[in-house]
Amino acid sequence: MKPISGKRILVCGKGGSGKSTFVALMADVLQKRGYETLVLDGDASNPEGLIRLMFGLGVNNEPKPLLEFFGGLDVVTCPVDDPSPLTRIDDLVPVPEKRIDITREIPSEYYIKKKGISLFQAGKIEAYGQGCDGPVEKVVRDFMVQGEWVSLIDMKAGIEHFGRKIPDTMDMILVVLDPTLESVSIAKRIEDFCKKTKMKNFWLILNKISSKEMESMMMEKLGELKSRVIGSVSYDSELIQRELSGGSLITDDAHKDIEQIVDELEKSVLDKK
Ligand SMILES: Nc1ncnc2c1ncn2[C@@H]1O[C@H](COP(=O)(O)OP(=O)(O)OP(=O)(O)O)[C@@H](O)[C@H]1O
Ligand SMILES: [Mg+2]
Repeated sequence: MKPISGKRILVCGKGGSGKSTFVALMADVLQKRGYETLVLDGDASNPEGLIRLMFGLGVNNEPKPLLEFFGGLDVVTCPVDDPSPLTRIDDLVPVPEKRIDITREIPSEYYIKKKGISLFQAGKIEAYGQGCDGPVEKVVRDFMVQGEWVSLIDMKAGIEHFGRKIPDTMDMILVVLDPTLESVSIAKRIEDFCKKTKMKNFWLILNKISSKEMESMMMEKLGELKSRVIGSVSYDSELIQRELSGGSLITDDAHKDIEQIVDELEKSVLDKK
């Protein structure tokens, strides 16, 4: 078994810091290393989400939201009002106790499988007045699968999901920071939450770093938290152009940086053993 096989990794951080870009690139690095890679789009507010970034596909190709598989908003409740675990429509055994067997249980319209990556979507805000993201986040919290899949979960900006205890079922938290003080303060808040919940696998990724000076400034602003920085991704204008042109991000320069980050994450898991 590879070092991060079976892990559920939550990717969070400030709005626009590069979470989705990072998830798309990391998924590609993981599949190239032979990991069975599951990407879960957990951002209910982003209409196209990761599909375009990862595969250069548009909204028409979106997979069905997993929220529907679990019975939709009539059945799946907000984890704050009702923390009870997610269950299948016809089976009361909680999903975390009897993990999902993807190939046998989930019909193919719920995911896009390409180049060794399977992309799922937790749910979307589709109707005016639909309510909060809670039910979508319960799906994120409890969509636990059998086997060696690495689950990479792209979250909505901010820290609302910590308020809903979504990280309780995660094995690792990655915070993507762009070079702003807002990113630094979000990382500090998240560190507090991780301390309280005794989440040890908590790492920071500095993104959009255009010089050594900028990296040093960020490290200085992070203070003691700098020991949690597991890697940096350089500012890469080609990424922005590719995003704008609607193509997929794959095969980009930023890959080298992400390769190093995956090396470090693998080491961090092996060191703990
Ligand atoms: N390393 C990088 N260098 C340059 N631009 C980047 C880099 N990473 C991401 N970007 C750009 O930053 C913008 C925001 O990226 P992205 O959508 O991945 O952020 P996000 O954190 O997922 O945003 P949101 O909070 O809206 O979900 C995009 O234009 C993307 O191309
Ligand atoms: Mg995003």
